[in-house]
Amino acid sequence: MVTKKIGLLLSDEDDWPVAFEQLHHRLSPRLSYHGDTLTTVVERIRIHPFSLRAGTSYHLVIDRLAWWHFHPREWLKKAALINGVYLLNNPFTFQSMEKHSAYCAMIRLGFPIPETWLIPTKIGPDTEKFRRTAARYHDLFDLPAIARQIGYPLYMKPFDGGGWRGVSRIGNEWELMAAYDASGQTMMHLQQGLENYDVFTRALAIGPQVKLFHYDPTQPMHARYLVDENFLPPDKAREATATVKIINAFFRWEFNSCESILKNGVLHPIDFANACPDVAIISLHYYFPWAIKSLMAWSLFCLATDRRMQLDMNTRDYFAIADSDRSFEEKLAAYEALADRYFETERFFEWRARELPHLDEAMWELAQSPEFDDMLVHNVRLIFPPHEHAYFIEHFRGLIRAWVQAEAAD
Ligand SMILES: Nc1ncnc2c1ncn2[C@@H]1O[C@H](COP(=O)(O)OP(=O)(O)O)[C@@H](O)[C@H]1O
Ligand SMILES: [Mg+2]
Repeated sequence: MVTKKIGLLLSDEDDWPVAFEQLHHRLSPRLSYHGDTLTTVVERIRIHPFSLRAGTSYHLVIDRLAWWHFHPREWLKKAALINGVYLLNNPFTFQSMEKHSAYCAMIRLGFPIPETWLIPTKIGPDTEKFRRTAARYHDLFDLPAIARQIGYPLYMKPFDGGGWRGVSRIGNEWELMAAYDASGQTMMHLQQGLENYDVFTRALAIGPQVKLFHYDPTQPMHARYLVDENFLPPDKAREATATVKIINAFFRWEFNSCESILKNGVLHPIDFANACPDVAIISLHYYFPWAIKSLMAWSLFCLATDRRMQLDMNTRDYFAIADSDRSFEEKLAAYEALADRYFETERFFEWRARELPHLDEAMWELAQSPEFDDMLVHNVRLIFPPHEHAYFIEHFRGLIRAWVQAEAAD
């Protein structure tokens, strides 16, 4: 019997890791492995000084921390380069190719990204060297003229965005200048605003498993994911799913969330670089069990099939398709074939059905258990003020019950 270890790299969350551990315990996976049996253990990763030459006991790491905590971020890179640990997101592309690069790549591949400009920071570094450089080489520019060219309303947001930090909707020149003044040393995009849209959709992707959600960004955090299926026309749902897989495969991201806006029949990607995405029970609620199951299935697949993490990219293969004279639909199908090859999509779904036949049932039973309910109650108490506890405990219990009933009906 072979045992492999899954490491969880965590911040202060008490929801998905608990549910993941509970599910793992119930499932106690025993997987076929080279004529032998593979079992797995799950452990939370501790943070401490490390030798760059150190070994590790982890075989795969699910990371929800390194997007803001830099010591574990560098530990991940060491784990990838020195130890060959499987990481769900490539930490190198994640750090260097954030939102701005995702826009550029998608534009290069022909996706309808809204018109987007990069503006130099309002305030540069406070050094003589910067002042001399700016005086010699920075062109003066007319920000209102750029905004007029893009057209109002527009969005000003950090080029490397995330978590709605520093995002503002700009309706006129006064708001433009105020937002630019407030941006300080943060480098900003100006992007054409897509309003009065038909559908805002957010996708959660875990390996080749993609779930599209009807998303309402105007709602408070706990109400943004709407419980709604079939909210996109079938061809647009297929396109959205393909787009998510393509961009993730392109950058080697396997745990990411992606946002698109459907307006006048065109699906515009707007935010595709959210590796290590939010999977809180408070935000995902009804869809939380889907995320936990999918993380489990993909992690176990990677371990049981000895899948190697790919640090290098095959950008040229995508660009060759982009440069061909095919229609966009044909290009999309060709990109998707590359993405499916990367994710081993067919093999994965076959493997999941064969090796994890009890996964759905285990999650379904877990969602009805007292231990899961304790986790839910604990998280509501952490996040909401005391006078809202009773209301929100029942609210989220109701959503989980609805999921349990819907699954039973399937
Ligand atoms: N071009 C746009 N058109 C319409 N709404 C936008 C646009 N860009 C951003 N927004 C709104 O602002 C929110 C945050 O912007 P986003 O690009 O997703 O940044 P972040 O990476 O911080 O999530 C989006 O969820 C959406 O509601
Ligand atoms: Mg976003």
